[in-house]
Amino acid sequence: SAPTTYSYLEVSEPRPGVGQVTLSRPKALNALSTPLITELNSVLQSLSTSPTIGAIILTGSPKAFAAGADIKEMAPLTFSSAYTNSFIESWSDLTTTVKKPILAAVSGYALGGGCELALMCDLIYCTTGATFGQPEIKLGTVPGAGGSQRLTRAVGKSKAMELILTGKFFSGEEAEKWGVAARAFATHEELMASVLDTAETIASYSKVAVMAAKEVVNKSQDLALRDGVEYERRVFHSLFGSEDQKIGMKAFAEKQKPEWKHK
Ligand code: CAA
Repeated sequence: SAPTTYSYLEVSEPRPGVGQVTLSRPKALNALSTPLITELNSVLQSLSTSPTIGAIILTGSPKAFAAGADIKEMAPLTFSSAYTNSFIESWSDLTTTVKKPILAAVSGYALGGGCELALMCDLIYCTTGATFGQPEIKLGTVPGAGGSQRLTRAVGKSKAMELILTGKFFSGEEAEKWGVAARAFATHEELMASVLDTAETIASYSKVAVMAAKEVVNKSQDLALRDGVEYERRVFHSLFGSEDQKIGMKAFAEKQKPEWKHK
C-alpha cells in the first residue's frame, strides 16, 4: 500500500516486527492536539492489524515525549462542548483497540496528558532525567486522561495525592524507583537502544501468546485478585488450542528453536 504521511508523527519499522511511532510536533513540545491524537489512533490501528508487526514503540523527541493536552485548544472549551463531544475520550482508544504491546520510550517532558499517554502504554522506559508530572492543578483543572486512576495504581494513594494536588514534577529516576517506569537510562541513545531490543524480543515470540500475556496482565488492573486469577487460567487453558503452544513445547523437548506460526 502507498506510504501514508502524517503531519504530527513519524512512523518506521526500525527492527523486524517493531513499529515505531515518534510524536513530532516540535514547536509545541508535542502537545497532544485533537488532530495529533486522530493521527495517532489511525497509525496505531494500522500497526495493530499489520500481520508483520509484533510490538509497538511510542516515543517523542529527546526534549519532550509530550507536554500535555494542547492548552490553547482547551482554553475556550465549555462544559457542554467537552461533554457532548466526549473530549479526550478517544485518547484511550489505544487501551481498548490495540492488542499488541505498546512500549513508551520517554525522554524530556511527559506532563499532564503526556504523562497519562505514557501510563496508558503497556510499559514505560525513560531517561533518568525525564520530567513527569500532572500539573493540571496549576491550570485550574484536574487530570482528564486517566492520570488520577493510573498514576494512583502505579505509585499508591498518598504519593499520587501529593503529585496531583501540588502539580510537582518527578524525574525519570523517581519514576523507575516508584515502579511507574520499568527502567531508566542515563541517555536518550541508551534508552532507544534498549527499548528497541526489548520490542524486538517481544516481536520474536508468538503473537498469540504475546497478545494473551498483555491481556491478562492488564486485567489485573481492573479485576479483584480471585477474578483475575480465574481469568488468567481461562486464557492459559485456551492457549492449548493454539498451534504456537504445540510448536513452542515441541521445540523445547527437541532442543530446537521454535518457528512460530503466530496461530
Ligand atoms: N499545550 C500547548 N502548547 C504548549 C504546551 C501545551 N501543553 N506545552 C508547551 N507548549 C508550547 C508553548 O506554548 C510554546 O509555544 P510558543 O513558542 O508558541 O509560545 C512552546 O510549546 C515551547 O514551550 P515553552 O516556551 O513553554 O518551553 P519551556 O522550555 O520554557 O517550558 C514546559 C517547557 C515546562 C514543558 C512548559 O512548556 C509547560 O509548562 N507546558 C505545559 C505543561 C502542562 O501544563 N501540561 C498539562 C496540560 S493539561 C492536560 O494535559 C489535561 C489532561 O489531563 C488531558
